[in-house]
Amino acid sequence: MSSASSPAQRVLLLGATGTIGRATAQALRQRGHEVVALVRSSSLGAGIGAASSSAPQVPSANATAASSALSAASPQRPVHDALQAMGVTLREGNLSDPGSVARDGLCGERFDAIVSCLASRSGTPRDAWAVDHDAHQHALAAAVAGGVGRFVLLSAICVQKPSLGFQQAKLAFEASLMASPLAWSIVRPTAFFKSLSGQIARVQQGKPFLVFGDGRLTACKPIADEDLGDYLAGCLHDPARARRILPIGGPGPALTPLDQVQMLSELMGRPVPVRHVPVALMNTIAGVLGLAGRFSPRLAEKAELARIGRYYATESMLVWDPTAGRYDAQATPETGSRTLRDFYAEVLADRERVDLGEHAVFSQDSQR
Ligand SMILES: NC(=O)c1ccc[n+]([C@@H]2O[C@H](COP(=O)([O-])OP(=O)(O)OC[C@H]3O[C@@H](n4cnc5c(N)ncnc54)[C@H](OP(=O)(O)O)[C@@H]3O)[C@@H](O)[C@H]2O)c1
Repeated sequence: MSSASSPAQRVLLLGATGTIGRATAQALRQRGHEVVALVRSSSLGAGIGAASSSAPQVPSANATAASSALSAASPQRPVHDALQAMGVTLREGNLSDPGSVARDGLCGERFDAIVSCLASRSGTPRDAWAVDHDAHQHALAAAVAGGVGRFVLLSAICVQKPSLGFQQAKLAFEASLMASPLAWSIVRPTAFFKSLSGQIARVQQGKPFLVFGDGRLTACKPIADEDLGDYLAGCLHDPARARRILPIGGPGPALTPLDQVQMLSELMGRPVPVRHVPVALMNTIAGVLGLAGRFSPRLAEKAELARIGRYYATESMLVWDPTAGRYDAQATPETGSRTLRDFYAEVLADRERVDLGEHAVFSQDSQR
């Protein structure tokens, strides 16, 4: 995909071990870029974090070799192997340490861009402020000080109507990035396939597909991991994507939960039963947990997760038109070619795995 009009660049990739991070690493490599991924110590295997924080600067080739050797016991090993097989150089760091991106990632070398797919894995406000905001602030400071010209950020379309802690954390960093001297691109995608696939297993067991309300309360233009990865990588070349907030979906039309049921019925060759869950139930759960959360930080976190669930049960992942006061499917840009139907067909045929990660609890509608 690399061409004379898009010369190869040196890119520091954050969040490379996540769903979109892996797809972005692949897309960057396919475009001929040199990719260095800064991954956290816990990703690289127990016991090496302490050693790494005081370790001297490691040239990238050595860092790669060291990472392979040290990650032998890590559950992340297959991810690291996959990244290295793509030709990505792994370096380890601690993103909660303000100096780590400069010291362990950039290492005083020349980089053209930082691309970040970094995000809190839990979505709780504390984690989101630590990762989506603070860690990104450290990366931005390192980019400015290190002469990195470009910063591409994976954000989320839901921040356009913020009511949740993680959305505030993301918006606060977006504001810092926009105020920076860098050529920034803020990519706000719609729903990922994994967030719309959590019910396939229960449907295969003959259980009903759960929808909130009438099943048409929300809609989105699902985007494939590889199409989003390619879109993020494309930001490095396209001047029209510099200093822009970029909402982006996959190929249309916009789909409701009932459309997903229809798709699964067609692909499975039998009607998939539907159970309607009242939104009021989500309100009650969020309300009760909210009250209990005043007395227990653990329950306060659960209350926020319930609010996240309610948000995705009631808000579409499409561009919001504030003047008309509604979501606008037509105004939501599209990219790529792979559809959710293609993905469902592959999952049902056992040729594709749903990577639910830590989102299994909100597998139906959580798009955090
Ligand atoms: N799900 C959706 O449908 C959807 C839709 C639109 C936008 N989004 C946005 O997309 C992003 C999530 O993308 P994703 O699903 O690719 O994420 P993911 O799979 O959860 O990956 C998160 C990445 O961030 C890293 N990370 C998290 N906490 C870290 C920490 N404390 N220190 C260092 N690294 C850390 C993870 O590293 P480890 O592997 O070491 O944990 C991983 O590489 C979020 O910003 C979300 O709001 C999601």
